[in-house]
Amino acid sequence: MNLRNRIVHAAMTTRRVFDQTPTDGMIRYYENRAAGGAAMVITEPLNTARIQTRGHYVRVWNDDHLDWLKRWAEAVESKDCRLLGQIQDSGRGRHERGRNPNAIGVSALPDDLSWTVPRELTRDELWLMIEDFAQSAARLQRCGFSGVELSAGHGHLFHQFMARRSNVRNDEFGGDLAGRMRFLTATIAAVRAACSGTFLVGLKMPGDDGMPDGVDPAQAAEMAALVTLDGSVDYVSFCQGAHARTLDWHIPDMHWPRSAWMPLIRRLRAHVHGTPVMALGLITDPAEADGIVARGESELVALGRSLLTDPAWPLKAAHGRESEIRYCVSCNTCWGQIVEGHPLACDNNPRVALADEVDWKPARLKRGRRVAVVGAGAAGLEAAWVAAARGHHVTLFGAGSEVGGSTRLHSRLPGGESLSSVYDFQFTQARRHGVHFELGVEASVQDLIAAKAQRVILATGAAMIWPRTAPTAWREYGVLLDARTAARALCGLHEPQGGTAVLFDMDHTEGTYALAEVMRRLFDRTLILTPRERIATDVPLVSSLGIYRRLTRLGIEIVPLSELSEESAFEEARLAYRNVHTGEVQLIENVAVAAYATPRAPRDALLGPLRTAGLPVQVIGDCKVPRTLLAATAEGHAAALSV
Ligand SMILES: Cc1cc2nc3c(=O)[nH]c(=O)nc-3n(C[C@H](O)[C@H](O)[C@H](O)COP(=O)(O)O)c2cc1C
Repeated sequence: MNLRNRIVHAAMTTRRVFDQTPTDGMIRYYENRAAGGAAMVITEPLNTARIQTRGHYVRVWNDDHLDWLKRWAEAVESKDCRLLGQIQDSGRGRHERGRNPNAIGVSALPDDLSWTVPRELTRDELWLMIEDFAQSAARLQRCGFSGVELSAGHGHLFHQFMARRSNVRNDEFGGDLAGRMRFLTATIAAVRAACSGTFLVGLKMPGDDGMPDGVDPAQAAEMAALVTLDGSVDYVSFCQGAHARTLDWHIPDMHWPRSAWMPLIRRLRAHVHGTPVMALGLITDPAEADGIVARGESELVALGRSLLTDPAWPLKAAHGRESEIRYCVSCNTCWGQIVEGHPLACDNNPRVALADEVDWKPARLKRGRRVAVVGAGAAGLEAAWVAAARGHHVTLFGAGSEVGGSTRLHSRLPGGESLSSVYDFQFTQARRHGVHFELGVEASVQDLIAAKAQRVILATGAAMIWPRTAPTAWREYGVLLDARTAARALCGLHEPQGGTAVLFDMDHTEGTYALAEVMRRLFDRTLILTPRERIATDVPLVSSLGIYRRLTRLGIEIVPLSELSEESAFEEARLAYRNVHTGEVQLIENVAVAAYATPRAPRDALLGPLRTAGLPVQVIGDCKVPRTLLAATAEGHAAALSV
């Protein structure tokens, strides 16, 4: 089977399936990735065995949805793109709160995250499951799919069979390596037997799950060698992490190096008997992908999040338009969205799964208006470039001398560098479409009237609120800083400062912990105080695990259930805090710097005067309700389309 290029869309759950039934939006998501130039698309996991009843996966194990499956295949395959359905089961795994009442598993041992103890599958059930997988694969083939991928990594059921940690069976599905691999090898054989001709069977294998008695690289090499020995697998990819405290390894976020899994993949490639290898894991840039292939490190390159952010990545790369790619910033908002049951969404792609998503350009108006955008953060920039691309005459006012707002500030903190792709793209597009920039200007109503604005988009962001119980003297002396001011001040320092840094955390998002890392590098001791029982509660689990790991390794102290106290003594550099339940006060001595990351209040002072002056105004992003980058880009985009 020939592929038109080497780019593959990696499996991602879209949460665009309802009641085990596809939707138009789900099909469009995949169709767009095919139209954008990927040569092969792997679907999200499907319900391919009768035991699988997850509502947000498409039922494939009977004939209920044959028409949908045919439409799905036609939508993708007609664009010279091969469609592979994913076979996967999460077994005992669960990352939501609570236990999984329907968990089935290899052995009655607890899931490492939820501590769900599954019901052990019987031998008959396993053989039936294998037969169901095979029949589902055959059904997919009849409907026009080109193949299946078995997702055997990520700590899911196949992986649970492979790892001693989760498999203590003493039947043919347990024991030695061949026994623990049997569920996988028998499935491959059954699929091969049920499907004909060139039907592809791809395999995603664990490469290193980081858990005791799990699958380490040495075991992974043996397993890869065994499963590829008879040539029945068409390609193999390797991933990291397990359904455990290493869950974050499986979707490496912005703290990981680019092409994060390549050292592992290079090592394991030697053991696959020449089976084509699919590179995977935080590959975001065409140059990186090209390099991997050029060096002979893989035959295929899979992109998950990169193709979510920009489905036209392959087309743009092919035509030398890399600067027009909207790049994945590895923030893992996408994963956070689906885990909370929302459709797959992206901070840097406000058009996921829309009909015109691929290489989108707005229709131009016959006559544009004069539009003023106030605020040059992600929301304002998005509004400005899209409005200008539609043909409006746009002036963008920004209080600072640079664009990017708080996203730019975050990009200067540890791990934040990739975030610059959000505003870099917006800025490039804004310039391309003729946006007029007024930077370093705190725009007033008079400025907007002078600019003859017919419409105003207000995107002036939000400011952190002074913590209610904080010592007021510290405010007067300016030594308890909001986190953004502190970040600006500390980012430029490189020499050790001595003393203790304190960060009061009522924010619980990524940037706050990046600031804590900066503090730790500069000061002898760093503490994070929070009134909640733990930190990072507003960060997806795939990133909060990494946050805890980094902070723990750096020796940053986390003090839960605490709020600042008036009993602090500024002159003695002593900061007091108290337990929110008992009121017991503790003191932190020798405080060199203290900062608060708190809920933000909209910076919307212009709104009233604008309305009084009769200027039509739309409020977007944090200035409307302080939230996330996802909301900022989405609202900036929508405002520009309606202005
Ligand atoms: C939102 C999201 C959902 C995912 N769902 C699946 C899944 O259902 N099955 C699977 O094998 N991998 C899944 N993955 C993992 C990806 O296939 C891929 O291995 C991982 O994201 C690393 O590739 P990337 O850096 O190109 O995104 C998911 C990843 C993300 C971000």
